[in-house]
Amino acid sequence: MSQQLLSDLTDGVLTLTLNRPDKKNALTREMYAALAAGIKSADADDSVRALIIQGSTECFTSGNDVSDFVNEAPGGPNSPVYDFLKAICHATKPVIAAVNGPAVGVGTTMLLHCDLVFAASNARLRMPFVNLGLCPEAGSSFLLPRLLGHLRAAELLLLGEEISGARAAEIGLANRSLEPGQPVLDAARDAALRIAALPPGSVQLSKRLIKEGVARTADEVMEREGEHFARLLRGPEAREALAAFLEKRPAVFR
Ligand code: COA
Repeated sequence: MSQQLLSDLTDGVLTLTLNRPDKKNALTREMYAALAAGIKSADADDSVRALIIQGSTECFTSGNDVSDFVNEAPGGPNSPVYDFLKAICHATKPVIAAVNGPAVGVGTTMLLHCDLVFAASNARLRMPFVNLGLCPEAGSSFLLPRLLGHLRAAELLLLGEEISGARAAEIGLANRSLEPGQPVLDAARDAALRIAALPPGSVQLSKRLIKEGVARTADEVMEREGEHFARLLRGPEAREALAAFLEKRPAVFR
């Protein structure tokens, strides 16, 4: 597995840890591919009862690597990002997220596919797709309004407003908000171990029954979003927004 994604299987819990601290765990193609491989290996391995996706005690992820957006536009049904999104959308084992610090873009939208989400009270969740001249991805245009209602989803997706982990728990985007740092990782581990001790057949069937209708629609929406996203990524608005981020200057949209 990649050095940018650490993997550990202990006591029936597969923990995937994003590990690119110098870039705030920005996700590269290599990391998406490793995440997809980790989730698929969990699906295929009877000894895995639950999965944790986490960053460090400081940072979950700053989302897709912006340089990759510029140089190697993700997208297409065979791309690593798409492979990851499909894998998490259809994961057969419970997926638990532990969120400290920034969770930007796909860092927040991947949470919509998880079964349990634990967030630091001061975690920073944000989906700045419109701000970057892009559009919602990962099925979020369907999953977010379904979860929060239209107005709250629109606030987060159209304005790209940042919310704290405490607020995320208040509005139902996280199960619980906790003291920042290790307590968040501990809460995820504790929940995963509790799941690992439950009857696996019943856990997996129950997860499937809860998710299968939603996952099917999310998958279809993801495809449509993906086509728009790939087109917008090549457009002038995204080019300016992404160049501005890399050049550390404000974007100007004419
Ligand atoms: N892609 C590539 N590099 C990124 C990145 C990303 N998504 N997010 C952060 N980095 C890099 C920064 O360019 C910087 O690199 P440098 O040290 O070589 O200059 C380094 O990671 C540290 O980031 P910095 O912005 O200085 O940290 P911060 O603590 O002030 O802010 C964030 C953290 C996550 C809030 C901020 O980096 C951010 O908003 N990132 C962009 C997120 C984004 O737009 N993602 C795409 C969503 S679709």
